[in-house]
Amino acid sequence: MRVLVLNGPNLNLLGLREPEIYGSMTLSELEEEVRRAAETRGVEVQFFQSNQEGMLIDRLHQARGWADVVLLNGGGLTHTSVSLRDAVVGVGIPVIEIHLSNVHARETFRRRSLMAPVTVGQISGFGPCSYLLGLEAAIHVVKQQNRDPSSPRS
Ligand code: DQA
Repeated sequence: MRVLVLNGPNLNLLGLREPEIYGSMTLSELEEEVRRAAETRGVEVQFFQSNQEGMLIDRLHQARGWADVVLLNGGGLTHTSVSLRDAVVGVGIPVIEIHLSNVHARETFRRRSLMAPVTVGQISGFGPCSYLLGLEAAIHVVKQQNRDPSSPRS
């Protein structure tokens, strides 16, 4: 099983950026934690971060034929990007939306996610653990798919 972890704008600043909201762990530390958890679960993972919408869309397109599930933290693009949402729909890979912070407990504009309606589900508010929960959710999604291939998002 293969999982792509896609991080959007400003997530490269984890550890420095608003640590009271996003914590002190850097992106590479977080990726290392996910890599270790994935290893113990027998999951292959790849990571990609970009501050550019088009790069994220290209990487999502490239994941076709490789990734079984994508964990997507679109950062601010979550709330604004029709193109990223179209890419999620277009690639047809199950995507799980991830946020470190609880986007529903912050500014009103963060409560709207353009991704949410086209993803399997959303994990929000658990800090770096959101990604580990996302990994477990990804395993669940693939198991469900194998049980019932006609219903990939059940
Ligand atoms: C975020 C939440 C977004 O609203 C914000 O723009 C981010 C990070 C999170 O992980 O909590 O960049 O996606």
